[in-house]
Amino acid sequence: VTISQIKKEQHNIDMLDLDMLLCFVLQKTRVFLYSHDDYVLSSDEISSIKKVIRQRQNNKPLSYITGKKEFYGFDFLVNEAVLIPRPQTEMIIDIVLKLAKKEQPIKVLELGCGCGCISIVLAKMLPNAKITCTDISSEAMVVCQQNITYHKIENIKLIKSDWFADIPYQKFDFLISNPPYVDREDTNKMNEETTYEPKIALFSSDGGMASLRSIIAKSKDYLKTHLILEHGFNQKDRVQKELKKFNFKNIKTFNDSLSHPRISTANI
Ligand SMILES: C[S@@+](CC[C@H](N)C(=O)[O-])C[C@H]1O[C@@H](n2cnc3c(N)ncnc32)[C@H](O)[C@@H]1O
Repeated sequence: VTISQIKKEQHNIDMLDLDMLLCFVLQKTRVFLYSHDDYVLSSDEISSIKKVIRQRQNNKPLSYITGKKEFYGFDFLVNEAVLIPRPQTEMIIDIVLKLAKKEQPIKVLELGCGCGCISIVLAKMLPNAKITCTDISSEAMVVCQQNITYHKIENIKLIKSDWFADIPYQKFDFLISNPPYVDREDTNKMNEETTYEPKIALFSSDGGMASLRSIIAKSKDYLKTHLILEHGFNQKDRVQKELKKFNFKNIKTFNDSLSHPRISTANI
């Protein structure tokens, strides 16, 4: 069986996804697929491609099949213990880079780091920053540590903590979090791919606001300047109200590329 024959068959999956699966199984680039479409797959390669096509047909996210996701131009290892990084989260990096001066030895705390994409990109872009990142999930921390090692990062400390519970008391210039914020009642509205992602990374009680509220309530104790939070597109007013309640100043909300309000920032 050749690449071209596989591509002509009806698999009921996206053509680009099929290309990515072929690249993954054959460990080749897309250019190879097009320039060698008469390449004959070995029997092992045929069984592997059949297996991953079946997984994709069952809506397993491409990133969980290939074990990788790009974020801010860098590759991150992912598995079902971590949320697959979303493009709107890249905005957090732009916001921090605008506010932080490269040469300053700033201290950053990220709560709920998952695969570590936010902290690791910041560690690369701000080599003088001292970054602490945390997660409650030991399985997610394993993935985060693998990414720290993969990217050869030395300015990140990874701590297991339920939000602030186990963070040694200190003040940070930046406190960043993309916490779980999906309303538990919305479970049935999620798409099928999302069902593969860890519930602890997605859902929060109190209309999806419980984690955001816990973080906002405690963050003043640990913060010197900037709080940066990702939230749901319909949570802007509730997040802003909560920030006002705790006397945060200079409250702003940024829209994602679909014009949905998604990231709120505030100063102490
Ligand atoms: C939406 S994911 C964000 C992951 C990553 N920062 C990103 O942006 O792709 C939320 C993360 O918060 C973690 N988390 C959930 N509850 C937590 C808690 N009580 N304390 C610390 N981390 C928590 C989850 O394990 C998950 O990794």
